[in-house]
Amino acid sequence: MQTHRELIVDPIGLNVDALPRPLDWQQLFGNDHPVELEIGMGKGTFLTEQAKARPEVNFFGIEWANWFWRYASDRLRRNECSNARTVRAEASYFLAEFVPSESISVLHIYFPDPWPKARHHKRRLIQEKFVPVMQRILVPAGRVQIVTDHQGYWEENIEPIVRGAAGFEVVDYNRPGSAGEGEFVGTNFERKYAREGRPFYAIAARRK
Ligand SMILES: C[S@@+](CC[C@H](N)C(=O)[O-])C[C@H]1O[C@@H](n2cnc3c(N)ncnc32)[C@H](O)[C@@H]1O
Repeated sequence: MQTHRELIVDPIGLNVDALPRPLDWQQLFGNDHPVELEIGMGKGTFLTEQAKARPEVNFFGIEWANWFWRYASDRLRRNECSNARTVRAEASYFLAEFVPSESISVLHIYFPDPWPKARHHKRRLIQEKFVPVMQRILVPAGRVQIVTDHQGYWEENIEPIVRGAAGFEVVDYNRPGSAGEGEFVGTNFERKYAREGRPFYAIAARRK
């Protein structure tokens, strides 16, 4: 009979209550490599593939759902990704409280929750008020990359807000090397939605 394997977060998954505010990336990773941050990494497919392929970069993942956070952290640990750390936290809170200004080289947001009901739109991550957050945490010339399958979220929030973001210019979207043929990023949700035949929308912008 198949049993559930224990998900071990240590030493990749950090206890948010024990972290200094603001974080010191150099102290946390033990080097001064650039830091790329993913919001809502789910099962951590993107983070694991990138951390394995690019040891000269530090990767940090924020995930709110406890089970996904544990799963991704365990996966990164099993893959010996010493250049990755994760935290279980709500992203807006964590960015505001813990992430130093001008310290992130790339911000990755793949398949953010679309909150389709109108009365829930205020819960969407990508809103006008998110622009100054990106502006603050990204290094000059730092990038943000966003992919969604949700047409409403794309048309109402993501595309107009990113295109109109003061201090940013839209640039070509970079497909990570770990993406499969025809994929934008190659996360679990992308693979699931691709099987359902959903269209995808992607955008990238660079801080001026
Ligand atoms: C649709 S899933 C996509 C997961 C993964 N990026 C992928 O493409 O497979 C969205 C993920 O973002 C997480 N999430 C949503 N809102 C969040 C927030 N405010 N802070 C942190 N994580 C969040 C959810 O728990 C979920 O795991």
